Amino acid sequence: MKNHSILRVEDLSIDYIVLGGSLKAVRNVSFEIYEGEVVCLVGESGSGKSTVGLAIAGALPENAIIRSGRIIFMGKNLLEAETRNKKVNNIMIVFQDPAATLNPLFKVGEVISDVIKTHLQIKEREKIKEKALEMFRMVELPDPTRIYNSYPHELSGGMLQRVVIAIALSTNPRMLIADEPTTMLDVTLQAQIIDLLLSLKRKLGLSMLFITHNLGVASEIADRIIVMYGGELIEEANSSELINNPLHPYTRGLMECIPRTHIKYSKLKHIPGTIPDLANPLKGCIFSDRCSEVMDVCRVVKPPIKEYSRNHKVACHLYMEEKQ
Ligand SMILES: Nc1ncnc2c1ncn2[C@@H]1O[C@H](COP(=O)(O)OP(=O)(O)O)[C@@H](O)[C@H]1O
Ligand code: SF4
Ligand SMILES: [Mg+2]
Repeated sequence: MKNHSILRVEDLSIDYIVLGGSLKAVRNVSFEIYEGEVVCLVGESGSGKSTVGLAIAGALPENAIIRSGRIIFMGKNLLEAETRNKKVNNIMIVFQDPAATLNPLFKVGEVISDVIKTHLQIKEREKIKEKALEMFRMVELPDPTRIYNSYPHELSGGMLQRVVIAIALSTNPRMLIADEPTTMLDVTLQAQIIDLLLSLKRKLGLSMLFITHNLGVASEIADRIIVMYGGELIEEANSSELINNPLHPYTRGLMECIPRTHIKYSKLKHIPGTIPDLANPLKGCIFSDRCSEVMDVCRVVKPPIKEYSRNHKVACHLYMEEKQ
């Protein structure tokens, strides 16, 4: 893997304007993705993963406000006035529900052709179709011509997710953001889509931000895993280090109930308590209300995310030098 950064998120904070105030959905998030690397954002529902992905893709909903930060993609700050909230051609995003992404009134062949025509500036109908079929073959869809002439409702969930990935890749993006792309699929299909993404990553040298609430899925696909909780990054390490040596009590809790042999497809454990109210974030450590190892200092002082060992960062007072 080249040690060259393709994406750098710096101090990103995003609020949602809601009735009666604002919700601090993402706070001071910083991380980097290197070329050809798959980074997984992992955390329970509501931890801010999708908000981070949407911000990078320039696809935040209208009630989102970026309070601070920079998103540097291929050397350019995507949050500067002229690029802010614009779609970035080199970054494509794939969502959980492929059926919701595709217009049910159009054959999938028409949808992909439209994207190819617009993005690749190809005009000849035959060439467009050729490229569409090539993309369907690339995502290992059987009988590409039949797929081309099908409406979304005529295809299974697994096939639809492949179609959506083919559409995303037809623009030759440098980065793919996949937001829970396997969540709606059964375990076998989930494994097939992960294998496909890994093989595309190898073939195309794609960099990927893969978002999942499933640590098992993350361990399968990620080079590096970043754990989010309540809108903050709380731990980051390369995949095997994080799985074998989780440091943060939240990550350790997520891991505890998963037998090593079953890590592949296990869901995150339910840790007692709920994610804090983001309209009113806590003082001190964001996890202190649910942490079984909470100390006095945790309720007052917020632990910064710090390097604990080489390539392993954690935000927890248990690993700070001056803990009480
Ligand atoms: N459009 C929105 N308007 C208001 N609140 C939102 C909106 N989208 C997400 N949220 C809230 O922001 C927080 C983070 O959500 P999200 O980024 O979707 O988390 P995740 O992807 O980890 O489940 C949650 O509390 C969620 O309810
Ligand atoms: S800082 Fe304290 S409350 Fe937070 S995770 Fe670490 S031990 Fe638990
Ligand atoms: Mg989400």
